[in-house]
Amino acid sequence: MYNDNPTLEGVKLDLDTGRHNTPLGEERQGEILEMVNSDAQKKFYIESYGCAMNFSDSEIVASILSSEGYSSTKVMEESDLILVNTCSIREKAEYNVRQRLRIFEKNKKKGALVGVLGCMAERLKKKFLEEERLVDMVVGPDAYRDLPNLISGAEEGEKGVNVFLSKEETYADIAPMRLDTNGISGFISIMRGCDNMCSFCVVPFTRGRERSRNAFTVVAEARDMVDQGYKEVTLLGQNVDSYKWENPENGEKVSFAQLLVMVAEVSPLLRVRFSTSHPKDITDDVLYAIRDHHNICNYIHLPVQSGNSRILDLMNRTYDREWYMGKVDRIYEVIPDCAISTDIITGFCTETEEEHKDTLSIVEYSNYSMIYSFFYSERPGTLAAKKYEDDILLEIKKKRLSEVIEVYSKVAFEVNQKDIGQTFEVLVEGISKKSDQELKGRNSQNKMIIFPKKGGVAAGDYVNVKVTEASRATLRGICL
Ligand code: 5AD
Ligand code: SF4
Repeated sequence: MYNDNPTLEGVKLDLDTGRHNTPLGEERQGEILEMVNSDAQKKFYIESYGCAMNFSDSEIVASILSSEGYSSTKVMEESDLILVNTCSIREKAEYNVRQRLRIFEKNKKKGALVGVLGCMAERLKKKFLEEERLVDMVVGPDAYRDLPNLISGAEEGEKGVNVFLSKEETYADIAPMRLDTNGISGFISIMRGCDNMCSFCVVPFTRGRERSRNAFTVVAEARDMVDQGYKEVTLLGQNVDSYKWENPENGEKVSFAQLLVMVAEVSPLLRVRFSTSHPKDITDDVLYAIRDHHNICNYIHLPVQSGNSRILDLMNRTYDREWYMGKVDRIYEVIPDCAISTDIITGFCTETEEEHKDTLSIVEYSNYSMIYSFFYSERPGTLAAKKYEDDILLEIKKKRLSEVIEVYSKVAFEVNQKDIGQTFEVLVEGISKKSDQELKGRNSQNKMIIFPKKGGVAAGDYVNVKVTEASRATLRGICL
């Protein structure tokens, strides 16, 4: 879910997908044709790191730049504007961005401008320009509408910073430019920011206060995606379950469960997923929406972070071990075939070996289909950095991380064995990586299933696949 990996170059955005960049519902194809034909057109290049929200934001940025007459390129060396959409969640993510900036400096076209967007821009603000003289613009996650001004300033030699965090900005009226897409799955941002103040987390400081987007613009964007042939949408937010929007015209309130249903009703052929949930906010209504709608996927990402109640309290997660286990029980009770995944942090401040074992046992208890696990990385300015000592040795943090992965591997293998003999509806994503004689796709539970090609079956189709083999990470089967 997070991409801190320098070898993954981030997503390179491609504006040649033909997607219009107008406010929702408005067609301005003539302008796009004019843009495409212009030789003098400036080019931008963008790399994204971190969470899906950042990748989604890059599509907003692409839309804004394309309105200004920019076209995209996948070749950094030929671009006039190089942007990197950054992540601050762990130290490593920030380190990777600084490495990329050195590479840009060495290889960029003469006179090309460099801009840093996203969480690192917000965290370091002006300091970034002092630390990284190679950067011309620093733009926080709520300030992308100001990019054209900042670019004009930078062209005049004036370095610019806009890290204003808004209480309202949701970019609701900007239709993202779907980029580097498979044309089957896409994201819609439904809310921004986070009010949760988990003590380890920098996000509330970099993405500001929680605010929900107009429900009707979300539905309109989903409809637009269906019209373009998309089959799957993931509703995105730092904490989607606390989505809450009030219609200013009649005061009617829309909850996350209601929004899920509104999007699901756009088309029975559009699969709906969401990410990410805070366990404290996921209500029975959300579970009923999943149970009662075939196209709302039976998959919940439910970050636990730790299985020990004392550590959860230090993390300010607002639930304890027993409460979380009760939530897991409730999910399996309402949706017996639901898959649950999680996030885990090992080696948080003062964590003992016994407390770490509680995390191992909660992995076994919850029967996770997937985990995203990290060792604790202290982030300046967070509550944990202020209040607690980062006292667990790196090698211990790493050892605990590998133990979590080991237990998870065993659990996931056993969970997947139960799928053998079952038939799942699979949305075909394309040719499998390992063999061009095989197709790959996901079931509702978000598990990848590989199966031999069958005549007439293509990417974007729904097919029924009977599982015949299962490993920790993949299911294999035959198309019925
Ligand atoms: N150190 C390690 N992992 C972290 N995460 C968030 N902050 C930190 C940190 N300081 C993890 C959490 C979160 C996921 C997105 O990243 O598990 O759910
Ligand atoms: Fe960070 Fe907690 Fe908000 Fe998630 S819920 S973004 S971990 S503060």
